[in-house]
Amino acid sequence: MNLVLFGPPGSGKGTQAERLRNQLQLRHISTGDLLREAVAQKSELGKKVESVLASGQLVSDDIVLSLMRDAILAVKKDGSLAGWLLDGFPRTVGQAQGLDALLAETGETIDAIFVLDATREAVIERLSGRRTCTQCKTVYHVKYNPSRTEGVCDRCGGKVVQREDDRPETIAKRLDVYESQTRPILAHYQGRVKMHRIDGDLPVDDVTTAIENVVTR
Ligand code: AP5
Repeated sequence: MNLVLFGPPGSGKGTQAERLRNQLQLRHISTGDLLREAVAQKSELGKKVESVLASGQLVSDDIVLSLMRDAILAVKKDGSLAGWLLDGFPRTVGQAQGLDALLAETGETIDAIFVLDATREAVIERLSGRRTCTQCKTVYHVKYNPSRTEGVCDRCGGKVVQREDDRPETIAKRLDVYESQTRPILAHYQGRVKMHRIDGDLPVDDVTTAIENVVTR
């Protein structure tokens, strides 16, 4: 089963992916995580994309498509999982077309796209309060889901920090980029892939249940 979680920054894609991946035996592939990992490792790629991530703009399609090609082929080669769960990709029409070409090559399809609709007010509040563990990537929120000790991860003891791009001016930029470059790709999939709209303003458990209800029916 191959699924895509789609929605604006802060709509809960990463949160839901973490919950669904074990249950559905899927590889969670987040382009944001892959790019941040490259930045943390100070690799050539990381040096190239660091300032783009910090600005809230999108990394170029060729870089992202190359990363995704490797990730999707690795799941197929591994063969032990039921499929993949994409989070934060595709994000431009060019990426959607590149994904089409890759899937034509591997003989795979997207089984469903879940569109997490969340209001601008909700996502701004979520992103400005989000904190992330630098080691295991567990996501917290200062108000709704704080770590037991401020700045320390409950799960691994790692340092919990604010993401560089979760500052107010960058959040606004990311939301604008979503509206202008990412939302339009839904038209690319209209009528070709099953799309399910989920109210992303609901509490986390309710969003998970709504997705599970579709997947298991
Ligand atoms: P990326 O990491 O993909 O960020 P994003 O899409 O902006 O999404 P977020 O991770 O910010 O939000 P989310 O929807 O996962 O929400 P989360 O679950 O964390 O991309 C970062 C950057 O990398 C981009 O700006 C770009 O530069 C680059 N990039 C990435 N992919 C790219 C691509 N394909 N092409 C080009 N460039 C790319 O939740 C947020 C907060 O809300 C958390 O605190 C959480 O606890 C809380 N929360 C979640 N759900 C709920 C709920 N239902 N109720 C209350 N709180 C909730």
